[in-house]
Amino acid sequence: MAGPLVIAIPKGRILKEALPLLARAGVEPEAAFADEDSRALRFATNRPDIELIRVRAFDVATFVAHGAAQIGIVGSDVLMEFDYSELYAPVDLNIGHCRVSVAEPVALAASDDPRSWSHVRVATKYPSLTARHFAARGVQAECVKLNGAMEIAPVLGLADRIVDLVSSGRTLKENGLVEVEVIAEVSARLIVNRAAFKTRSAEIGPIVAGVRAAVE
Ligand code: PRP
Ligand code: ZN
Repeated sequence: MAGPLVIAIPKGRILKEALPLLARAGVEPEAAFADEDSRALRFATNRPDIELIRVRAFDVATFVAHGAAQIGIVGSDVLMEFDYSELYAPVDLNIGHCRVSVAEPVALAASDDPRSWSHVRVATKYPSLTARHFAARGVQAECVKLNGAMEIAPVLGLADRIVDLVSSGRTLKENGLVEVEVIAEVSARLIVNRAAFKTRSAEIGPIVAGVRAAVE
């Protein structure tokens, strides 16, 4: 008998939206899971055969791709960046809606036409997605990899533009940037390790079905 199924959930915004979906699928974590002050990373649920871990969004994909967790919830932005063949993404959860966009300083945008770009220097945590996007447009992109707070890069001269998630647009606005190109619409997906989906189908199948029903 393998150990409990491990479901990886990203810290932050998606977590709160994911809880009601998990509850409707019959999985209710212990109270500490939704408590941002808790330093625990691993949590029991009402189901003795299921536990949750709380990790960074990009790491959800890594844990599940390696089979360290069997199931996860992750934004489609992360799947676009990594393109892990070990991951199966059977359900669009219809939560965590946002977009991956190119943004630049307001002053630059005033006289800028994205169609005229030939070379851009971009700060982003999505170097792969960014390179693919600009290559397809015939634009040469130089990426500076950051892990957060991209919005501060242009004013300090680290990059002239950023590629990042935009949700309400508030972070761009408060940092003097405007969105000039949408690369992709994003929503959260349920992901499953492909090998585990075959070897533990009796356990994983009902969870996937429960989450799918909860979304619909
Ligand atoms: C995310 C994202 C944007 C912001 C978008 O950052 O990277 O900066 O939220 O949301 P908004 O359009 O509603 O302002 P996050 O808060 O995760 O911080 P980080 O990038 O520093 O990790
Ligand atoms: Zn950010």
